[in-house]
Amino acid sequence: MGQILLISLKTDTNNDLSITIKGGRNMSSSSIVLHHFLFLLLIVCHLTSVSSWKKDEFRNCNQTPFCKRARSRKPQHCKLIATDVRIEDGELTAKLMNPQENLDENSLIISLSVYQNGILRMKIDEDPVQNPPKKRFQVPDVVLPEFQSKKLWLQRYTKDGDSFSVYLFDGYEAVVKSDSFEVFVREQSSGKRVLSFNSHGLFDFEQLRVKKEGDEWEERFRSHTDSRPYGPQSISFDVSFYGADFVYGIPEHATSLALKPTNGPGIEESEPYRLFNLDVFEYLHESPFGLYGSIPLMLSHGKSHGTSGFFWLNAAEMQIDVLGSGWDAESSILLPDQKRIDTLWMSEAGIVDAFFFIGPKPKDVVKQYASVTGTSAMPQLFATGYHQCRWNYRDEEDVKNVDSKFDEHDIPYDVLWLDIEHTDGKRYFTWDKALFPNPEEMQKDLASRGRRMVTIVDPHIKRDDNYHIHKEASKNGYYVKDATGKDFDGWCWPGSSSYIDMVNPEIRSWWADKFSYTEYVGSTPSLYIWNDMNEPSVFNGPEVTMPRDALHYGNVEHRELHNAYGYYFHMATSEGLVKREGGKDRPFVLSRAFFPGTQRYGTVWTGDNIAEWEHLRVSVPMILTLGLTGITFSGADVGGFFGNPETELLVRWYQVAAYLPFFRGHAHHDTKRREPWLFGEHNTELIRDAIRVRYTFLPYFYTLFREANMTGVPVARPLWMEFPYDEATFNNDEAFMVGNALLVQGVYTRGAKDVTVYLPRDHTWYDLKTGTAYKGGHAQKMEVTDADIPVFQRSGTIIPRKDRFRRSTLQMENDPYTLVIAVDSSGAAEGEVYIDDGKSYEFKQGAYIHRRFIFSDGKLTSVNLAAASSTSSFVSDCTIERIILLGYSSKTKSVRIEPSNHATDVELGPLQIRSGVRSSALTIRKPNVRISDDWTIRLL
Ligand code: NOJ
Repeated sequence: MGQILLISLKTDTNNDLSITIKGGRNMSSSSIVLHHFLFLLLIVCHLTSVSSWKKDEFRNCNQTPFCKRARSRKPQHCKLIATDVRIEDGELTAKLMNPQENLDENSLIISLSVYQNGILRMKIDEDPVQNPPKKRFQVPDVVLPEFQSKKLWLQRYTKDGDSFSVYLFDGYEAVVKSDSFEVFVREQSSGKRVLSFNSHGLFDFEQLRVKKEGDEWEERFRSHTDSRPYGPQSISFDVSFYGADFVYGIPEHATSLALKPTNGPGIEESEPYRLFNLDVFEYLHESPFGLYGSIPLMLSHGKSHGTSGFFWLNAAEMQIDVLGSGWDAESSILLPDQKRIDTLWMSEAGIVDAFFFIGPKPKDVVKQYASVTGTSAMPQLFATGYHQCRWNYRDEEDVKNVDSKFDEHDIPYDVLWLDIEHTDGKRYFTWDKALFPNPEEMQKDLASRGRRMVTIVDPHIKRDDNYHIHKEASKNGYYVKDATGKDFDGWCWPGSSSYIDMVNPEIRSWWADKFSYTEYVGSTPSLYIWNDMNEPSVFNGPEVTMPRDALHYGNVEHRELHNAYGYYFHMATSEGLVKREGGKDRPFVLSRAFFPGTQRYGTVWTGDNIAEWEHLRVSVPMILTLGLTGITFSGADVGGFFGNPETELLVRWYQVAAYLPFFRGHAHHDTKRREPWLFGEHNTELIRDAIRVRYTFLPYFYTLFREANMTGVPVARPLWMEFPYDEATFNNDEAFMVGNALLVQGVYTRGAKDVTVYLPRDHTWYDLKTGTAYKGGHAQKMEVTDADIPVFQRSGTIIPRKDRFRRSTLQMENDPYTLVIAVDSSGAAEGEVYIDDGKSYEFKQGAYIHRRFIFSDGKLTSVNLAAASSTSSFVSDCTIERIILLGYSSKTKSVRIEPSNHATDVELGPLQIRSGVRSSALTIRKPNVRISDDWTIRLL
């Protein structure tokens, strides 16, 4: 993609030159506010290919001293022993010291605490008794306050030789080995290990020192210098996962679901997986390079142990190696003869605050992690529909046209988005008065058809004395400071910008108030928010972000909390929307950057992908990985952000994305318009079908979002999460499950006439369109047409749908339901539906309907799952208009409905009401029972 950067030059009252750039991003790192000079500058930049990732702008491990040092250490490097082991405040504590050094000098303190349901927390920090020059940063605001109440008060340990063990959970124990220092979790009866820490002696903890004459602590990268006033302070260690066939997690990387080894024999020296939130322009579709968000949670899964997890709560830059087998062949360490995967974790700063999750089932690990960092917020119903975005919808006229075209083409959608150009010169919370003179009317007009709007609000604030946000922030000292203590001044969309210091709760509260209707002039209750560039992106900063020696509230260096900056921004924005409605309305805030805990505040998307088949393919493992690590509500830009997708790719993208949690079309401003109706009638029909299918499944999606909200189990799941004993699923990232019932197989190649599908064993699978039954347990080639991708319902499940076509979720509110029952070999099936008002927090007081449908012995029963003690209730008059039975062979002609005792017919009816679908299935027509009632339907 050749690209021209248009540069406009302006001088302000100080005679400073500001340069506004349109059409390009991520300028070189040279300084761009030039005092007392006027330059005439013309830059023509030719980006020769779409995949022009600017590798040199970012550091690799060799250019990152802490990473290089850690990677070069050999096993058994660690000489520490654990001494003074004791139980204190219900925890096991010890000192870690080097017996060859002077006793207490440089010792560390370790503490182990145990929590309900199989969680071990381990902290290692400097010993305060030695007065380190500064307290190291511990990430606040991520671990749920209620997690503390799950702590099990340890009373004693058992000593066996130089090992000290404490009871952990249900047959598992945690062991601290004193010499040489090691921590592991094992099964008590068999002694089989689950997870271990420092078994290879790679633990290293660089302690803070006072700078002495001759200490060279500065680090340089390109034209940037990091002053590093506290010197090296990195931490590294090895973690082993036993019984593991694969490891997963640690987003965000554009890579496979099962993580490939990054170091070891036979593996070409590659980069470790990096966790450092960055604004990466045109990222590669297969790379360990760290993207916009970071979650240091790794899961392992294998046939022998099942699943386990390891989470390091640390917000500094992290690098993680997955070590290929035989990497330690030269070391003399003897570990138990168990299959395992070893990993090396390295971080620039912080402390060790690690959580071990014993599983042993996949859903146990995600639940254990959710009990620490929270489950995902319950979204508003509208947010689960289709979103239409573009950089930019130009003006009110454009908005009106796009909106009305959806209706003209009978395509449902819920939200129209406005990108940065809607503002007055990238001053967020303002409107370009020429393009958007009547924002309130515009929103009200959309709302009259049940639709919402989202506007963008980024964290960089234009340094303009006439801009109220800047005036208040600078006056109140609310900006992040540079290393000299002045407001940090960096370059982003508005030109010279400063960044709100969201780490401070007072500042977050001030920011939250900005979303009130009086402060955000032109906003209405149907307006929601998009937080972009919150890594934070700083065009002229090192690696396009904030310098590591910038200073935050509490004298915390940016390096210590970098990965959490965007999280705090997202949190403050989300709290703003809650405040705006007096705590009544659930917020919707999409964020690009993320961190553990983000799931409590909103939605995430995978950033600036490219309109290429490989980017469609990688979007699936990226979204599944986010779900595994707590963030269930995520999606990728449909069609690819950069470049123009060929029509077939666009259609396939809609077909896959319709089954992923967050469903939004978005495109760069240099791309051709690509609203669904612009590719000829046939393709409009295909896209319409894909979006409509999504809407028919919304009752099922919403039920799954509630499950995620209650348990942490994601909406979109890797196959192995549902079929943990079926090895063929362990590294399949082309197919995924929506809940436990739907299997979706993406099509990722041009002109595909068939696709190989693996349907997990021990189940029958029903093709969603034809009703054809397939036996699971082997990979099979299946024909595909351009009409859709293969999707199957698993035997033994019941899915609630709403099959009538409407313009938006709001208009579907009172529509009747269809239940699709796919019976298993014993003729049984189960499923659920969850319903509430779709917008408020009343559900927390019990204002919801939650039913379980149980089908067995030719009888379908609806059972109430709602909690008995509730202070509020939700009423729905919706009925069930159709029940479809798949795999049920009987001569049934009619049914009897109890308690009303009326009868209705069973006949053959359409499986789906969609264009071109003619297949039929056994159907109970118009049983007309209420969704909220107890009833039984007997097949006669
Ligand atoms: C970068 C975001 O990733 C993209 O989605 C957005 O359109 C641009 N910023 C402009 O705001």
